[in-house]
Amino acid sequence: MATNADAPLAINTLDRLDVGNRRVFVRVDFNVPLKDGQVRDDTRIQATLPTLRKLQERGARLILGSHLGRPDGAPDPKFSMEPVGARLAELLGCEVRLPDEVVGDGVTKLVHDTRAGQIVLLENLRWHPGETRNDPAFAQALASLCDAYVNDAFGASHRAHASIVGVPGLVADKAAGLLLQAEVEALGRVIHNSEHPFVTVVGGAKVSDKLPVLLAILERLRPGDSILIGGAMANTFLAASGVEVGSSLFEPDRFADCKNLLTRAGARDVRVLLPTDLRVGVGTKATSARVIQVESGALGEDEMALDIGPASAARFRAAILGAKLVFWNGPMGLFENSVFAEGTLAVAKAVADCGGYTVVGGGDSVAALQDSGVADKIDHVSTGGGASLEMIESGGSLPGIDVLRTNRSA
Ligand code: 3PG
Repeated sequence: MATNADAPLAINTLDRLDVGNRRVFVRVDFNVPLKDGQVRDDTRIQATLPTLRKLQERGARLILGSHLGRPDGAPDPKFSMEPVGARLAELLGCEVRLPDEVVGDGVTKLVHDTRAGQIVLLENLRWHPGETRNDPAFAQALASLCDAYVNDAFGASHRAHASIVGVPGLVADKAAGLLLQAEVEALGRVIHNSEHPFVTVVGGAKVSDKLPVLLAILERLRPGDSILIGGAMANTFLAASGVEVGSSLFEPDRFADCKNLLTRAGARDVRVLLPTDLRVGVGTKATSARVIQVESGALGEDEMALDIGPASAARFRAAILGAKLVFWNGPMGLFENSVFAEGTLAVAKAVADCGGYTVVGGGDSVAALQDSGVADKIDHVSTGGGASLEMIESGGSLPGIDVLRTNRSA
């Protein structure tokens, strides 16, 4: 863990927003996993509590809106916000009123009757077809419920949806919530990486998903910085350089892109570390694994590379411990099968032990931190996997953040 001066935020912040006794629409990202009608992981709800508490303390009348899952633009009880509202009420220790629709006369009346500090949680915004289409009439219906707008939904800020860009486009008084502000500041340090050595650790299944962000990061790296690549995406790099990868997942149509990235990294004296050993198994449900050396070992035709091996994990750890700035997104292997979780857990521990500033995003990476009990040792755990990658790739711009930069009172 490290502290450092944070980059200034170019968008309006909560403390500058007039909220006392005003109706404040807070876009939250309560897109949380459910199990048996209950919230299975409330991390995203917990992450928004500081903003909600602050607004309650300052006498705001709160209208919360979120999506949950991907319903088809129509009411679907499977994706009701009810369990989320129940969990939020427990966490805040106050009543959370839940109308049974997103907008409509009942909602308008409920909001009208809401007093300072009270909370209304709208039904799933994606129950309405206008949300994902950014329909102007739907945005107007939401905007007419409020006097001020707060975005605390970092995880959804890469979506140009009605509640993310339409509503703030119609409301003059708007600001970033505390969670969004923290995300922008932490990811800003990754984007404007002035701390070196900077180590980027990426994993996950598809190299095609991560190439754009890797290329964006590479542009700003200096000699001595490193990119560490694990997960199935490493297979494509290995296969591109002639390694026989058996039945492993890989993307042959990305060979040229992988070689290009390695060439560009070489030209900047940036090290790219690929696994030198692999944990392999027969199929994703394998109950046992063997370790092979990339240089000398060969995978059987039916074997898949499903994790980085112990030597790679040790090499990655050494690189991470030497970093002043670390960004990690994506597992090193098939983390959900415990036989292939070791590499990801080793990276989680290394990032936690690093003395530099550390930022982690992506569902599996965050789950690995939690499983290792080290999440509290990370400087910033992002609530947005896709949003954090898109933000880094774009150099700091996301639809839901850019729309906040135009605040008249900023
Ligand atoms: C997420 O979980 O990544 C965000 O809530 C965005 O959800 P979406 O991918 O369904 O838009």
